[in-house]
Amino acid sequence: MNLSPSLMCADPGHFAEEIAFLEAAGADSFHIDIMDGEFVSNFALSWAEVSKFSSMTTLPLEAHLMVRNLSVHIGFAASSGVKLVYLHAEHPDVLRGLQRARVLGLKAGLAVNPETDVDTLRPFVDMVDAILMMRVRPGFAGQSAVSDVDERLPLLCSLFSNTPIIVDGAVTPDTVASMKRKGASGFVLGTSSLFGKNEPYRKIIHNLRTLAS
Ligand code: DX5
Ligand code: ZN
Repeated sequence: MNLSPSLMCADPGHFAEEIAFLEAAGADSFHIDIMDGEFVSNFALSWAEVSKFSSMTTLPLEAHLMVRNLSVHIGFAASSGVKLVYLHAEHPDVLRGLQRARVLGLKAGLAVNPETDVDTLRPFVDMVDAILMMRVRPGFAGQSAVSDVDERLPLLCSLFSNTPIIVDGAVTPDTVASMKRKGASGFVLGTSSLFGKNEPYRKIIHNLRTLAS
């Protein structure tokens, strides 16, 4: 079970401490949201920050690219210590982006928006290392999940039966318990489960791991 804290939700004034505490608390990887203000109308983390993160942790950095210019940002990901990039299935250039990621030695995952028809994803079967199933419209933390979005998980699991499915957006402890049962392999932990709570990260992650087991 991959539990991946979303660093756009961490305290930007204390990334080093946050990353150290989260790693010590048992996180498996870090989720890095990259936004360009065009593909989504927001900005999140910068590549300068991501380069610093890779010197602060040995855990894998997984970049969720919500950007129009895939080639440029995949290049930045490769030179910033990122191990895996999630590209959006909705991006017109996603196939070329997946190829470029591989050429640069990155693992490549496919991010899927709540409204995207699962059937349109057939060409990607056995082409990607992971699926990032969005429960919210990409671009902002702190949203509520799109209604009935979790019903899509069994369909995704049957189409991508050999590929881990990671759930991103509005993940609460209840989400972890119910979507683990439906076949999820990991969760992005943001403001709905991990950040801004009055509990130590270690206790929260331990509880989530128990729910996910
Ligand atoms: C939203 C991002 C998510 C977000 C998760 O576009 O992809 O990773 O940070 O945070 P919450 O749990 O607040 O939705
Ligand atoms: Zn994300």
